[in-house]
Amino acid sequence: MQKLLTLILLVLLLLTTALTLPVSAADTANGAEVFSVHCAGCHINGGNIVRRGKNLKKKALKKYGMDSIEAITSIVSNGKNNMSAYKDRLTEQQIQDVAAYVLEQADKDWR
Ligand code: HEC
Repeated sequence: MQKLLTLILLVLLLLTTALTLPVSAADTANGAEVFSVHCAGCHINGGNIVRRGKNLKKKALKKYGMDSIEAITSIVSNGKNNMSAYKDRLTEQQIQDVAAYVLEQADKDWR
């Protein structure tokens, strides 16, 4: 009887922790890793080695309407001109994470 109670308590405990964890919240630490592998080649330090003006600094993101999670996830998923699409190479979560990372870094001016 006592074993059963302990088991039930354990299951309840696991359930409540699982429910309170923010399941799909963007993880900028993971985003930083995605960025260094997939984006830094062209966007090192938030720049753009292909099209200098289209960098990831706050001012440029604002100017081109790229200063939101939606806009960045969209360009990363579908690509644009010389930037390729990543929707076949990255998961939705990775794209969310890297977009959050880009916005966070732009706020800090990539320092
Ligand atoms: C092969 C080089 C290359 C790689 C790799 C690359 N990009 Fe880009 N990126 C570009 C180019 C070129 C543009 C400009 C596209 C345009 O508007 O013509 C751009 C534009 C952008 C913009 C919009 C910037 C602005 O000011 O309008 C964002 C945001 C962005 N890239 C994020 C990323 C992220 C995040 C990754 C990694 C998942 C990535 N890029 C990988 C070349 C690259």
